[in-house]
Amino acid sequence: MLLALIAGVIASLPAMTQPSEITLRSLAQQHEINIGAAVSIGALRKDSTYREVLAREFNTVTPENVMKFEPIHPERDRYNFTDADELVAFANAHQMQLRGHTLVWHQQLPDWLTAGEWTQAELMDILQQHIYTLVGRYRGQIAAWDVVNEAVGGKDSLRKNIWLEKIGSDYIDLAFRWAHEADPQAKLFYNDYGGEGLGEKSDAIFAFVKELQQRRVPIHGVGFQMHKTIKNPPLPEEVAENMKRLNELGLEVQITEMDVQIHNGTGTRDERLVAQAKVYRDMLGVCLEASNCTAFVTWGFTDKYTWIPGFVGQPDEPLIFDESYRPKPAYNALVDVLKNS
Ligand code: G3I
Repeated sequence: MLLALIAGVIASLPAMTQPSEITLRSLAQQHEINIGAAVSIGALRKDSTYREVLAREFNTVTPENVMKFEPIHPERDRYNFTDADELVAFANAHQMQLRGHTLVWHQQLPDWLTAGEWTQAELMDILQQHIYTLVGRYRGQIAAWDVVNEAVGGKDSLRKNIWLEKIGSDYIDLAFRWAHEADPQAKLFYNDYGGEGLGEKSDAIFAFVKELQQRRVPIHGVGFQMHKTIKNPPLPEEVAENMKRLNELGLEVQITEMDVQIHNGTGTRDERLVAQAKVYRDMLGVCLEASNCTAFVTWGFTDKYTWIPGFVGQPDEPLIFDESYRPKPAYNALVDVLKNS
């Protein structure tokens, strides 16, 4: 009788909570850093494990494609927000921050735009309405926008694209100003690749963003895409130095698209996975050390969905989970860095 009574009392107690599971997200929260991944809407829609791991491990998401010009603005007078709305809803449902990607780029532009014979005024109006409409729709929901993507060509030169040719170099200032008008709360970033360490492109980006500031353009940070390989790994001391000089300008830095190719490295697969883990470890370590590095985002998170094999024309495993969602040495390295920093 007494045992039954005790059992009843115990059964009525609240279930003991499991010790909180160690995840990148739980560790990131302790460090007040955003750990994120770019999201494929197709995978999000069809793959329940993708959704589960994404929500468990990350506190930030970037749309891999669904907020780019072509998918969002397929015809001059038509916008399509279906996919973007779905991703925003997922992020909101899982209390995840969003990075918006990207307002102005030379890729993924719709045919109606690239085939048109536009005057400068017409193209400025098209771009302004695009930015006002897209940024305005998600006003207050996007923590950071990649306003301009990959516009720097090299020393004192801008990449040739439709915006530069038809509007002129003012398109860059205008894009930032319009984005800021549409959502004054969003952090506005210039995003690029190949300038994460020190060197000609890094210096060109530094000079570029410094000139934006001198023209009082509302820019808050620089995105380091960080598409790397184990064959030519980034040098932590150079990335740290670059982050430091951007900090001296008062700019944030976010690692926005990290992945690390291993196909062209040397050694066994296991040895190449260890080398890959070191690159991830080094870059998160540099980011955690830099007071102005506020996000660490990979370009996807499982080798099941990555753009790299199509880009390099052969299989590769550039991310932190394998194609069966098993944590790789790179994932364990990130956990280790967060635990011990
Ligand atoms: O959505 C269309 C689909 O309707 C069509 O049937 C199909 C075949 O033509 O194409 C689909 O669009 C593809 C899109 O990805 C969505 O899957 C484009 O062709 C394809 O070019 C596009 O590739 C993306 C690439 O940017 C170009 O925009 C990659 O997935 C994406 O990972 C990559 O991401 C870029 C960042 O935005 C900027 N930094 C570099 C990074 C890698 O290139």
